[in-house]
Amino acid sequence: MMAMNENHSKICIIGAGVSGIAAAKQLSHHNPIVFEATDSIGGVWSHCSYNSTKLQSNRRGYEFTDFHWPQRDNPEFPTHLQILSYLHSYAQHFDLIKNIRFNSKVVEINFIGHQPSSTMLPGHPVWRVAVKATHSDTIQWYEFELVVVCIGKYGDIAEIPEYPSKKGHEVFKGKVLHTLDYCKLDHEAATQLLKGNKVVIVGSKKSALDLAMESAQANQGPNGQPCTMLVRSSHWTVPHYWVWGLPLSLFYSTRSSQFIHERPGQGLLKTLLCLMLSPLRRGVSKFIESYILWKLPLEKYGLKPEHSFEEDYASCQMAIMPENFFSEVEKGKIVFKKVSKWWFWNGGIEFEDNSKLEADVVVLATGFDGKKKLKAIMPEPFGSLLEYPTGIMPLYRGTIHPLIPNMAFVGYVESLSNLHSSELRSVWLAGLVDEKFKLPSVESMLSQTLKEIEVMKRSTRFYKRHCISTYSINHGDEICKDLGWSSWRKKTWISEAFGAYSSEDFEKED
Ligand SMILES: Cc1cc2nc3c(=O)[nH]c(=O)nc-3n(C[C@H](O)[C@H](O)[C@H](O)COP(=O)(O)OP(=O)(O)OC[C@H]3O[C@@H](n4cnc5c(N)ncnc54)[C@H](O)[C@@H]3O)c2cc1C
Ligand SMILES: NC(=O)c1ccc[n+]([C@@H]2O[C@H](COP(=O)([O-])OP(=O)(O)OC[C@H]3O[C@@H](n4cnc5c(N)ncnc54)[C@H](OP(=O)(O)O)[C@@H]3O)[C@@H](O)[C@H]2O)c1
Repeated sequence: MMAMNENHSKICIIGAGVSGIAAAKQLSHHNPIVFEATDSIGGVWSHCSYNSTKLQSNRRGYEFTDFHWPQRDNPEFPTHLQILSYLHSYAQHFDLIKNIRFNSKVVEINFIGHQPSSTMLPGHPVWRVAVKATHSDTIQWYEFELVVVCIGKYGDIAEIPEYPSKKGHEVFKGKVLHTLDYCKLDHEAATQLLKGNKVVIVGSKKSALDLAMESAQANQGPNGQPCTMLVRSSHWTVPHYWVWGLPLSLFYSTRSSQFIHERPGQGLLKTLLCLMLSPLRRGVSKFIESYILWKLPLEKYGLKPEHSFEEDYASCQMAIMPENFFSEVEKGKIVFKKVSKWWFWNGGIEFEDNSKLEADVVVLATGFDGKKKLKAIMPEPFGSLLEYPTGIMPLYRGTIHPLIPNMAFVGYVESLSNLHSSELRSVWLAGLVDEKFKLPSVESMLSQTLKEIEVMKRSTRFYKRHCISTYSINHGDEICKDLGWSSWRKKTWISEAFGAYSSEDFEKED
């Protein structure tokens, strides 16, 4: 086995999605190599989007601080193709393509060993990385001082339900596919698949909602068949980002609105204050719920969640309802079936009470297994350190594991805009690599990550995602403090207190 290293790069970035290109830009002065398994940049926007997929975040929120959208004030949500084009322009503008090795999948990472060092670039290789070219069986090994993992939480590996024995999709005579297969279909092929067929969509979150809408659109007219969504649990969806005429950001993305939420590492006084202010938090959540229930007929169709809106917001679960979704429901093109356990029979889906639903096509909109993707390449014992009973990866500043040397992770912290989260953490990582600040002790980093996990657990019972949406400004403050930037990013006191924080507030300071 011979380890080689083109360009003498010390840094390897794995993945060229939003996170990988953000990391490549911020570390470009170190000339990193980016290994990308597919033949293009963009990650999920390139190979895991449906024909109807649009951005759910606000355009100006999902924007690199140093490269604006061409029509940044256009209130429409860009399509996945427009997002892809924006990402290509970004990569071209900053000349990042030259760093990317396409069709190069990292299949294994080995730890070479490490003399304790306080720097991310210690002057000797720490990791050996095995890369397989798409159309070849040859594996090439490389050595690096720092590895930045940006392989994404979604896409690539499907989360497939478990079925009782002999009741899996093999017994079903129709067609079963996961959204990962569905997103490979062009508009024509997707319409052919859905049109005139009894479609069942498993799931009720964003992919399921979008696909139910695509099925309804393919089944217009008298010969159209209804599509049934299997709903295991109901979550809050929003029609848009306005609540009784006020922007939603006013309630969760300003300093004053986040002040009433718990944040990691807060003092006793703040904890008591948060406790006293809990009726206010409940009031805000109820206010938003009242608007959603007025705007969308969730109660009529038994879709009103039992938990608060705040719990979905705090766990980054909130989805935007596709336009005209409930018109299709009213027409009978989309129907809902509440389920707990289900399995396949020859003609479709069977439920716990032995009732049966006929189907021609079943689409599993059941999500993705990002942990499996990571586990496939992480060596032990490091892989196990990333697994945690809560399901949240314990990453300091959302970027490094205090016990895994010379490795960083970008794209694992979620908020209203994952692009912004990835860019800000890449800026932090570049600061760390360039020794603009020093890390605290391992113990204090571990304690900080535990505090974050505890806050998430207390804020929402759906805490499986590392979601910082109710204390994102505090997270930004900490990153700015580390970088020696001013934490208060707005121009006036009023806007500091009541203005919504977004990606544009984090333009780089020298
Ligand atoms: C359909 C869809 C819509 C979304 N909409 C929004 C939205 O509106 N707003 C929002 O904030 N977030 C949204 N998200 C979340 C989205 O995942 C993030 O916004 C962001 O695009 C993630 O980028 P990433 O680079 O971290 O991961 P990815 O986009 O998954 O990119 C990872 C890259 O790594 C590559 N890779 C994986 N394994 C390897 C390997 N072993 N070797 C080499 N390369 C590898 C993959 O090919 C891929 O290109 C959406 C996700 C999906 C699936
Ligand atoms: N911008 C966009 O337009 C867009 C489009 C699609 C996806 N996305 C993003 O992509 C990510 C993944 O979204 P996703 O919707 O694909 O996956 P997801 O959020 O993980 O949702 C999976 C759905 O499948 C259900 N499910 C899983 N196993 C099931 C089972 N055995 N039986 C019944 N139901 C089951 C889940 O129910 P429970 O809730 O009960 O677990 C949930 O409703 C999210 O971040 C999302 O925001 C964005």
